[in-house]
Amino acid sequence: MVKIERMWTELFRPKTLDEVVGQVDIVKSLEQFVRRVDFPHMLFSGPPGVGKTTCAEAIVNDLYPAAERGGNVKRLNASDDRGINVVRQDIKNFARILPSSSSSFKLIILDEADQMTNDAQHALRQTMERYNEITRFILICNYSSKIISPIQSRCAIFRFRGLEKKDIKFQLRHIAKKKQLIVDEEALDALYESSEGDLRQAINALQASASLTSDISVEVVYQVQGYVKPVEVRAAILECLKESPNFISARKHIQNLMESYGLSGQDLVKHLNRELGRMSDDVLHEFIRYEALSMLSEVDYRIATGCNPLIQLDAFLAKLILASQKQR
Ligand SMILES: Nc1ncnc2c1ncn2[C@@H]1O[C@H](COP(=O)(O)OP(=O)(O)O)[C@@H](O)[C@H]1O
Ligand SMILES: [Mg+2]
Repeated sequence: MVKIERMWTELFRPKTLDEVVGQVDIVKSLEQFVRRVDFPHMLFSGPPGVGKTTCAEAIVNDLYPAAERGGNVKRLNASDDRGINVVRQDIKNFARILPSSSSSFKLIILDEADQMTNDAQHALRQTMERYNEITRFILICNYSSKIISPIQSRCAIFRFRGLEKKDIKFQLRHIAKKKQLIVDEEALDALYESSEGDLRQAINALQASASLTSDISVEVVYQVQGYVKPVEVRAAILECLKESPNFISARKHIQNLMESYGLSGQDLVKHLNRELGRMSDDVLHEFIRYEALSMLSEVDYRIATGCNPLIQLDAFLAKLILASQKQR
């Protein structure tokens, strides 16, 4: 039988606030709230995979003894149970019951709160006010601007940010150690780069890489992510910049990239754009860079409006060669 492994994101989700990585100021404030055993309603906003749900669950663990969590905590996902009736009944019914003996208030965690209709939010606001003495809310959302202002003004707002490179790498190293993996620096950097600060995504990519091998190099990371290697994109550009440029070879690089990674013309334009933007001045003369970027924006537009991507990319390579020759 195939053994199905638990998701590492869940396996390695911090249980308590002191295990959360990054979000330092937020964690500090939350720890103070927990120590005082008192806090206002809270609104956690920010991009996915940065610790919003994790912090809410860590508060639960830090605040209530295990036996009392069931009776004192309710979790709702607003996008599943959207609408005014749920708020009116479910939340209200729970909010008005007294907390268990040793706790001073109960907690309602409402995830994806920005998916609630305006009516539901207004009903929620009333409930928040009415049962304020015995129930606290933690609302979680991606965009705080989608929460009505009367709710915002009743909450302490915590804006979570994409995690920094050092924090993502720290947690990946921690997991790698527990799982007895060897992950080299370059691979960690690549995992961070493609995650864009989303630790959930980085951990998932690490788990996918580990399913191939326990010795994880940057090649493995690229392989599982279908991530295009910057050097391969750069190779096409360099063919055009050479003293005796090689159009056929440049075009071959482009076609290989599209085939082996299944990239669309517009994907490739994005990769070219990124590479052109970060090649150093001594490899790419600044005027060629400007010309190339401006040609590329035209190619992007043309492909978007239905022109043949291969023809457009050929034209781009040809113009890049001409621009480069002009500078010699
Ligand atoms: N700040 C963090 N510290 C440690 N682990 C984190 C952090 N943020 C995300 N994670 C990891 O990513 C997973 C998803 O995080 P979660 O808190 O659910 O994200 P969201 O911000 O979308 O609610 C967690 O299970 C955990 O493994
Ligand atoms: Mg979440």
